[in-house]
Amino acid sequence: MTKVRFSLNGEVAEVEVEPRELLLDTLRDRLAMTGAHAGCEQGSCGACTVLVDGCGVRSCLMFTVQVGGSEVRTIEGVGSPGSLHPIQQALSTHHGLQCGFCTPGMVLTALELFETDPHPSRDRIEEWMSGNLCRCTGYVNIVKALEAVAGTAEEQL
Ligand code: FES
Ligand code: FES
Repeated sequence: MTKVRFSLNGEVAEVEVEPRELLLDTLRDRLAMTGAHAGCEQGSCGACTVLVDGCGVRSCLMFTVQVGGSEVRTIEGVGSPGSLHPIQQALSTHHGLQCGFCTPGMVLTALELFETDPHPSRDRIEEWMSGNLCRCTGYVNIVKALEAVAGTAEEQL
């Protein structure tokens, strides 16, 4: 077993894991961060996306020992039920979710985009989000919501 210490949503987290343990399993099973969803578990769907040092990663493809000393952010560290983050609020307002399974990964992926480019175009939003799969929405309202956050929606120009 290996001791791993890292920052999780601004708090210190320390776990003892086998070197083969996946970050997704550590987050969900040891640290109760169940907003990181297990979808395909092979890197294809993006439901397990979290931010490690500000970069979106597939937590189903990363070993927990790799995040030692890093800052990990999950959806539990973004907004709160009474005070949604603007991305969460926009997805709600524009009906950018249905079952919600993909939503935590969508929000964290979008957060990385907006932290590097606050006003992305629709093309850039579509390209950036293309690695996150949604089985419900058809993507149109997700893109609309993110355009509203970006302030680049046509009706806002
Ligand atoms: S569960 Fe990790 S990419 Fe699908
Ligand atoms: S809202 Fe159901 S998978 Fe995206």
